[in-house]
Amino acid sequence: MLNPIKLASKNFLSSLDTSSEEFFHILEIAKNFKNKDLNIEHKDKVLGLIFDKSSTRTRVSFQVAMSRLGGTAIDLNPTTSQIGRGEPIRDTARVLSRYCDVLAIRTFEQSDLEEYAKWSSKPVINALTDIEHPCQALADYMTIKEEFLDFKNVVLTFIGDGNNVANSLILCGALLGVEVRIACPKGYEPNSLIINKAYDIYKKKSLLKITNDPNTAVLGANVLYTDVWSSMGEENQKEEKDKFFNGFTIDNDLLSKADKDAIILHCLPAYRSKEITDEVFESEKSRIFEQAENRLHVQQALLSCLLH
Ligand code: CP
Ligand code: NVA
Repeated sequence: MLNPIKLASKNFLSSLDTSSEEFFHILEIAKNFKNKDLNIEHKDKVLGLIFDKSSTRTRVSFQVAMSRLGGTAIDLNPTTSQIGRGEPIRDTARVLSRYCDVLAIRTFEQSDLEEYAKWSSKPVINALTDIEHPCQALADYMTIKEEFLDFKNVVLTFIGDGNNVANSLILCGALLGVEVRIACPKGYEPNSLIINKAYDIYKKKSLLKITNDPNTAVLGANVLYTDVWSSMGEENQKEEKDKFFNGFTIDNDLLSKADKDAIILHCLPAYRSKEITDEVFESEKSRIFEQAENRLHVQQALLSCLLH
């Protein structure tokens, strides 16, 4: 029977906290959980959730994943705990890791997440920061693998803001050797440190392309992916960004330039008629709800490896 392995890194703060072998292993465990071929018990284990930003999918899929492992999840609402009153992260982390067996944290700064990890005696998972969304990328690549069976010759084109989701897609693309093209308006390119890290990993540097032209980026692509133009925390930039992102909507015209068997992904929540048209969102090419479901399976797999 396939058994979850212990990951070399204690935490999952970044997509680069797994090796490519570990990444494939998590996808394999996730597939087995999804097919109900695997039953792993982590009875009495407790997952603490700290969410400084809103969430539907990440919060609920973590809660259900923990329940399927026989454990419990506690949602530590920052506004009703002392976190919201400014208790230092180093104190919160030392206390919570004496009660909980693993923590999943959604916050703004990656450095705050790292501070939690530094002071926590238990594993810490990145449930989204301004810079990365590695659990999302696990589900995204699981969905791509379900469709195309492997990553050879897969071209993933992300159209939109060079944000946390784009960054994690880039890093995982580098780990897996997937061709990743990012098309974003000038000035909204992904974080340069992330791009440089990815180029250091890619054996073939030409597999990562950053461009400002969505029309060339989609040519022959197998996966078209988009996300909101304004992420959580950027609400005051919405109007300005909407103007800059004109021309970056995934519509039927862009879709027609991709490979004829291309699929559509979106991490959700989606703003129809902004980053994607309703027609494309609801089309038979969409795998958006399979992708959302896969959040549950990959996180159950990740938890089972981290709780080893
Ligand atoms: N995709 C995603 O992380 O969704 P939530 O913000 O609802 O968790
Ligand atoms: N980029 C988005 C992702 C939401 C899941 C955000 O950070 O708001």
